[in-house]
Amino acid sequence: GRTGTIAIRGRLLSFDADPAIEGEAGAVRFIEDGIVVVKEGMIVEVGEGPAIARRLGPGVPLVDHRPHLVLPGFIDPHLHLPQTQVIASYGAELMEWLAKYTFPEELRYGDSAVAGEASRFLLDTLAANGTTTAAVYCTTHQVSAEAFFTEAERRGQRMIAGKVMMDRNAPEGLLDTAELGYEQTKELIAEWHGRGRLEVAITPRFAPTSSEAQLEAVQALATEHPDLPIQTHLSENHGEIAFVAQAFPWSTDYTDVYERYGLVRSRAFFGHCIHLSERERSALAEKGASAIFCPTSNLFLGSGLYDLAASRALGLKTGIATDIGGGTSYSMLTTAAEGYKVLALKGQRLPAFEAFHMLTAGNAEALGIGDKVGQLSPGFEADLVVLDTKATGPLRRRMERVETLAEELFALMILGDERTTVATYAAGRRIYDRYQAGLRPLA
Ligand code: GUN
Ligand code: ZN
Repeated sequence: GRTGTIAIRGRLLSFDADPAIEGEAGAVRFIEDGIVVVKEGMIVEVGEGPAIARRLGPGVPLVDHRPHLVLPGFIDPHLHLPQTQVIASYGAELMEWLAKYTFPEELRYGDSAVAGEASRFLLDTLAANGTTTAAVYCTTHQVSAEAFFTEAERRGQRMIAGKVMMDRNAPEGLLDTAELGYEQTKELIAEWHGRGRLEVAITPRFAPTSSEAQLEAVQALATEHPDLPIQTHLSENHGEIAFVAQAFPWSTDYTDVYERYGLVRSRAFFGHCIHLSERERSALAEKGASAIFCPTSNLFLGSGLYDLAASRALGLKTGIATDIGGGTSYSMLTTAAEGYKVLALKGQRLPAFEAFHMLTAGNAEALGIGDKVGQLSPGFEADLVVLDTKATGPLRRRMERVETLAEELFALMILGDERTTVATYAAGRRIYDRYQAGLRPLA
């Protein structure tokens, strides 16, 4: 349980650094038979299974997940709560998709019952996919964010979320004003930020839907709360970029709009970042902001191919996310697989160790919570996912020919999805169990 001590045994995989930077030997920590000791929701010890089991003795409950993998819970740094019934809508590029499917659906989230039901579905589905932390866009409606935080708190999960701010270029019922967006975000911060494991993100949707007056109000929020996360969208689609150039004629480029309003800084997460210039990438990198790569969304909406090598060359941190519901899968494994394919089209590579680092410690780092989650290490919060690399026929068959851990992980990411999840733990408590699918922690 959450308060006592428990031990979780399995094939432990965690990353102490980015294998793309430090190399595999310095970054990958794998223990074939390991134990994670959890006390009051925190990891207190990680090491060799036989030695720890002997020392703990029979008094400490031990969950033996061998032969399954145990990793830090996956982190999804960009998705939309109100788009679980927009996902898989046919045939449109970004601006048309927003107008035709997304905005009309988001209008429903002024009803807290709608937002509550969606929050339960979303959190259940993320848990079934091994995702324990996410950065979430709610809608303009205050109640949508309150409903999401209420559900996340009930489950004891580390979550970042925000009320979307937009005051133009969307249906009337989705618009706030510069003042209202400011006031409501302030209220959310007072009520929810730092409560348990929750954080409020300052969430202007993107430049096309905010007036200059609203961006000034967002700047005030950001200045008054220098440690708060900021999330928005940047340079996803050519039509969007042209729209921004027209709406902000003084800007040198899209990133410049956010820079002018003080929104490019550490803990600012920019979704997509596909069509950036060298200047824009450098500006984001220098200010310590993060780019969030959303491969299934970028392919689905035909937005373009993210350039990981260009980001790395300039030291721009990259996270990888589902972007539900522009994105088409809740699975971070599938997301990594599609990321691999996007990069293949760019002539770039995403080795399995780098991908699994990204899904865990890398995404934690991109969200500025790399000291709290994303690693199996003492002092970190006990968010874990247990994965069965032979969960399906195609996986079992492929694994017969696999000889190394890297090959096993690569096949897992390419062929795996939510069927590989055996269990998911948040703060040491099981929030998903494949033998009791749909398990509700506080039912
Ligand atoms: N840009 C502004 N809003 C959105 C959104 O909801 N989804 C995506 N993919 N891009 C956006
Ligand atoms: Zn998005």
